[in-house]
Amino acid sequence: MVEQTQKSHISLDHEKMHAPPEGFFERSTSKPNLADFATYQKMYDQSIQDPATFFGEQAKQTLDWIRPFDQPRFPADKKDDFKNGDLPAWFVGGQINAAYNCVDRWAAKDPNKVAIIYEGDEPDSGRKITYGELLKDVCKLAQALTKLGVKKGDSVAVYLPMIPEAVVTLLAIVRIGAMHSVVFAGFSSTSLKDRILDADSRIVITADESKRGGKTIETKKIVDDALKDCPDVRNVIVFKRTGNSHVPFSPGRDLWWHDELAKYGNYFPPTPVDSEDPMFLLYTSGSTGKPKGVQHNTAGYLLGALLTTKYTFDVHEDDVLFTAGDIGWITGHTYCVYGPLLNGATSVVFEGTPAYPNFSRYWEIVDKYKVNQFYVAPTALRLLKRAGHKYVEPYDLSSLRVLGSVGEPIAAEVWHWYSENVGRNKAHVVDTYWQTESGSHLLCPLAGVTPTKPGSASLPFFGIEPKILDPTTGEELKGNDVEGVLAIKSAWPSITRGIFGDYNRYIDTYLRPYADHYFSGDGAARDLDGFYWILGRVDDVVNVSGHRLSTAEVEAALIEHDLVGESAVVGYADDLTGQAIAAYVSLKKHKLPADADLEAIKKELILTVRKEIGPFAAPKTVLFVDDLPKTRSGKIMRRILRKVLAGEEDSLGDISTLSNPQAVSQIIDVVKTSR
Ligand code: WTA
Repeated sequence: MVEQTQKSHISLDHEKMHAPPEGFFERSTSKPNLADFATYQKMYDQSIQDPATFFGEQAKQTLDWIRPFDQPRFPADKKDDFKNGDLPAWFVGGQINAAYNCVDRWAAKDPNKVAIIYEGDEPDSGRKITYGELLKDVCKLAQALTKLGVKKGDSVAVYLPMIPEAVVTLLAIVRIGAMHSVVFAGFSSTSLKDRILDADSRIVITADESKRGGKTIETKKIVDDALKDCPDVRNVIVFKRTGNSHVPFSPGRDLWWHDELAKYGNYFPPTPVDSEDPMFLLYTSGSTGKPKGVQHNTAGYLLGALLTTKYTFDVHEDDVLFTAGDIGWITGHTYCVYGPLLNGATSVVFEGTPAYPNFSRYWEIVDKYKVNQFYVAPTALRLLKRAGHKYVEPYDLSSLRVLGSVGEPIAAEVWHWYSENVGRNKAHVVDTYWQTESGSHLLCPLAGVTPTKPGSASLPFFGIEPKILDPTTGEELKGNDVEGVLAIKSAWPSITRGIFGDYNRYIDTYLRPYADHYFSGDGAARDLDGFYWILGRVDDVVNVSGHRLSTAEVEAALIEHDLVGESAVVGYADDLTGQAIAAYVSLKKHKLPADADLEAIKKELILTVRKEIGPFAAPKTVLFVDDLPKTRSGKIMRRILRKVLAGEEDSLGDISTLSNPQAVSQIIDVVKTSR
């Protein structure tokens, strides 16, 4: 069982329920994907009562199969889901190819249809890529990879910026039945190395350099640093993004993307893979220091990505969807690459940041390409709200029908700002709750259909059976107006099939904490109307600017510094980034010179974390303390550290059970002086 450690920070005030914007469906040239709320309810009920038939039908209708499946779900009955760590298998006997479903079938229909709109870091740099062109590049890279010895089931590491070649790369890898393992290009060389080794990737695909917010990043150099400790990597394919001549290049091992692709013809057949063959790994933070390689298998993941894009965002073939999340995270995988392409729509791939060259960048893109669905994390919205209305106002945003939010709770005032200033009260705001592990949306309104309440992720998607459990007893809290931890009762097609190389850890993390349930790691409430509110993580995971980090991971990075004796990392509320990281550090006294410059040491510690994990993980606050509060068994009481930081030192509870209660008063003093 997990101790409920974080206090609810969202008020469950009964905000007015908002009906979907009037005339929502009239503003689309296509027929609605879902007629009305009653249809959602009917379909939802079917999806829960008989998931095998429901998803079997959907999979037949929406995906192209090389060999039809024999059984949509095995076992068809969901009563034993998650018991003893068991998951059902989906679409058993079927064979399919992910790239074929994303590219070939649309290229056959209309090769000139735009698949990707690439908007470069500099305004007006970029290009459009049609489905026909995408197919050619995917086939060429698929052949290059095959020639380099990549086979079905192998993993290929991807360390690329947000450029169309990242999409080509993912699709080429799955075209030959291999798995991609994308590492967010903001991760350091150490993090990249760890992931390459864990996934046993032998080929890496990267770029010479990257451009972001007007800055140049030495991407290939970071890869080279990582590869010093990865002796099994045979080849690195390098896309020339900037073409700077001083980029390091090891002939023999390193190959230029353009040279490789030039060697091959325009077509290469897709490799049939079984429904349950692995499709990709994506590393994410858990409550321990070691990141987990979350594994997704092919057909179930594809169906989840396809259906949620279709229904949550009401996406049609003629739509332009702009997901402003990076391909290095699950949002980029599912809603920038797979979801839009599986629906034959157009996806915007944006290389830059919302603030470069000014705070209008997103809105300029929406206006220029007549974006219909826009999807972003609240952290960017908080920044843009603060920048001011003048950056939004000049743009024609009338093409927008759906405004998505993802990755962290969206505060009501940000929700309203989004709806009024960006959506101009005509777009439907959909707050989507899900995880790397879920593959696709778990709780979300369906555009044009589900009424919304600002701050609530509303209701479950098809096939999702959310339960609120008592955090300590694990008992289900039935009815409405309850608060506890969020768990899910039965499996859905795109649930992760495991942690790469460590199935026991998978069971321990998700399936064991609450018997017969998948445990989300989040606290949640169900309000009087049956709407769900996510209250934040109940484990040691923090969410900084929508990036998920484990406190243990940051602690492991800090300890790399020579002077650090011990550290404890906690999250605390921050206006801009949602949560920020505070590191309580006790220094090794015997190593500390008498005239030590503590400010300089703080900077060094922050640098250490940037180097070990990546710049986004840097602590915002470093607090030097003599001792950390511990239980008698030696466990650090992070709850106390969090409370002191939140100014709640009056409600620390009983600290007499600590082995060192005297540590607490010094901690209170240190925090007070730091304010
Ligand atoms: C949090 C991101 C509140 C949550 C897609 C979850 C959210 C974690 C929301 C997963 C939301 C995601 N409201 N919290 N709409 N969406 N979260 O794996 O704590 O990077 O467990 O996937 O983000 O983060 P991940």
